[in-house]
Amino acid sequence: MHLTSLWNFNKAHLAAYIERAIILKREATAGVRHDTLAGKIVGLVFEKPSTRTRVSFEAAMYGMGGQVIYLSGRDTQLARNEPLKDMARVMSRYVNGLVIRTFGQEVVDELARYATVPVINALTDLHHPCQILSDIMTVIEKKGKIEEQHIAWIGDGNNMANSWIQAASRLGFALTLACPEGYDPDPAILAAAQAEAERPIVVLRDPIAAVKDADVINVDVWASMGQEDEAAARIAIFRPYQVNAALLKQAKPETIVLHCLPAHRDEEITDEVLEGPQSVAWDQAENKLHIHKAILEKHLLS
Ligand code: CP
Ligand code: NVA
Repeated sequence: MHLTSLWNFNKAHLAAYIERAIILKREATAGVRHDTLAGKIVGLVFEKPSTRTRVSFEAAMYGMGGQVIYLSGRDTQLARNEPLKDMARVMSRYVNGLVIRTFGQEVVDELARYATVPVINALTDLHHPCQILSDIMTVIEKKGKIEEQHIAWIGDGNNMANSWIQAASRLGFALTLACPEGYDPDPAILAAAQAEAERPIVVLRDPIAAVKDADVINVDVWASMGQEDEAAARIAIFRPYQVNAALLKQAKPETIVLHCLPAHRDEEITDEVLEGPQSVAWDQAENKLHIHKAILEKHLLS
């Protein structure tokens, strides 16, 4: 079973990852050790940089008795245009699962088509599904039932936004996204999600309107990996979407702020807000470890 986007799963499956991760976190705190992935090897193929996702997947594997082989994009024959379907079939003979971070979603989809071991999407230009699972785990820890939350997304309609949209439709929470014109989320994902959603998924322009009733505010970089050339132009366009003290004042005092990190302080979020009492970014980063354990267990053992 692959994890190429959250669309691969129904509500019960998505909830199961999070329930398991919460148990694994509790057990880790109590010093309970697991060896369930002993003898398993995962290949990590990363064509973009990563601090959290790479290290938390590696720590999750080692922490459960497994091992990893890390390959940066330039170290594989992919860099010399070896067909993905060949790599998928060969790697499947060596490892028990593939975790991939790359540019095009079609790369992950093609690997999944030909691999005979599970393929897990560790971020593409279109999706960041594992991140959203650990973010939702964080929201549940801090705020309770996910179905009762109103989540706001402020800024770029990027990979994170697309995965939040899929999660909202499957898990049944309300989602309001405030994006500048021209930077909306993927229209096909939005339309498909809206068609099956139980609660509203809305895209608007005004960040104040988006945070007014929000329980959770989500913010991410203005220029994602691969968009470095656009960074300067985006700073000018996204400036009104900065998550700062003035915007937080428009929300409820108990509203929490999520940032998947890495953050560009004083661009998309002020240092004051990121380091302030409403920020849960550090627990959010920790939860990647626990959710990755739950994902690896589920995909490598079933
Ligand atoms: N949040 C996240 O995916 O961080 P990295 O790019 O460091 O993996
Ligand atoms: N949208 C960001 C997320 C980083 C974890 C990017 O793709 O660079």
